[in-house]
Amino acid sequence: MRSLPILLLIGVAAAKLGHHHSNHPTEDKLLSVQVVIRHADRAATQGWATDKSEKILFRGNGELTDDGIDNAFNQGRDFKKRYVDTGFIDKRYLPSEVRIRSSSVSRVLMSAASFTNALFKRTPNNHAIVPPIYTTEESQDTLLVPLLTCNDGWEDVVSKYGLTTSENAKDTALIKMLGSQWDAPECSKVPPGLVDAIIAELNQKEIKMPENYKACAKGHAKQFMFRYIEMLAGAGDHFNELRIKRVAGMLTSELVKNMQKAASCPPPCSTEPKLRVFYTHDVTVLAVAHIFKALHHFEGVTPAFSSAIVFETRMNATGPYVKVYLKNGHKPEFFDTGLCHGNCTLPAVAALAAPLSLTEPIPCPIL
Ligand SMILES: *[C@@H]1O[C@H](CO)[C@@H](O)[C@H](O)[C@H]1NC(C)=O
Ligand SMILES: *[C@@H]1O[C@H](CO)[C@@H](O)[C@H](O)[C@H]1NC(C)=O
Repeated sequence: MRSLPILLLIGVAAAKLGHHHSNHPTEDKLLSVQVVIRHADRAATQGWATDKSEKILFRGNGELTDDGIDNAFNQGRDFKKRYVDTGFIDKRYLPSEVRIRSSSVSRVLMSAASFTNALFKRTPNNHAIVPPIYTTEESQDTLLVPLLTCNDGWEDVVSKYGLTTSENAKDTALIKMLGSQWDAPECSKVPPGLVDAIIAELNQKEIKMPENYKACAKGHAKQFMFRYIEMLAGAGDHFNELRIKRVAGMLTSELVKNMQKAASCPPPCSTEPKLRVFYTHDVTVLAVAHIFKALHHFEGVTPAFSSAIVFETRMNATGPYVKVYLKNGHKPEFFDTGLCHGNCTLPAVAALAAPLSLTEPIPCPIL
């Protein structure tokens, strides 16, 4: 029996060597990054919270504000720190490495330009390097502009809010929701029609909103807006398979396809961009968060301006896997959404996303 410890030792040493050997060629490595991001601060799409607002937010309803330009840049700077300053992306900007795509809605394109303005080193003459931003006409963009105007896919909304028809449901449901869910004490003296305006103007330093407007905007209004955006997205408590697929099905299959391409192109990979940015709208961000199990991290509060969901495709000895981070605005840090608390191998993530992925858009039915 004296030889047993020695045998055991040899066994342990062999296992260690074997482990070390198989681990060595594939230490944990970042292969690609994909970012699904909401545009930065804009004026409300309708209405103004004060009589000075329209002058201060001079670009008009729905347009990016100067704060939005600054904050998109600040968000870009945090991505620069994480992915450019670390050497993952070349700081001089190589077109083969980076692909930026944006919804063609002005506030989104402007945000994309400001964000990417922050990413790279400046030219020797101190000018910003702004990469090309690819876009598609709004009516044709099945990737980044949510299609919300079809008459089908609203059965749940019609019955939940007692609508008489699914026609124009996104607007009639809002009116019903405001009628029944604008009941918080802090909002009692705020016109429900200003819900978007008070949120949009809350952080605009030059605009002096009444205290009750501020309290409402910080609290109930953002929770109300979360439910409304979630409803449009067909996500969370408002889950509707057709709506969520229309909003994010094409983008989801694009994300997964790119993860798979990155995983099958070992570094140094010259055929696949390492950074892809998809600049879009709040509805799309929530739908994508739902699909990749991150919706609860918004804690029932509407996504911040510049809110980003970040997909890192990585490789370790086990194989390719996917980390999903939330950076909910330009101030918060990158937050690990914990997809890896379950199974986050690439095959598992692809299987998770498959039921809500689309390879062809689903057009509105012809009436
Ligand atoms: C590789 O990463 C996955 C996901 O985090 C993890 O489950 C697995 O244990 C890792 N493999 C190794 C060898 O570290
Ligand atoms: C993770 O999911 C993949 C794909 O479904 C499966 O092949 C694999 O065995 C799973 N791994 C673990 C550790 O559960």
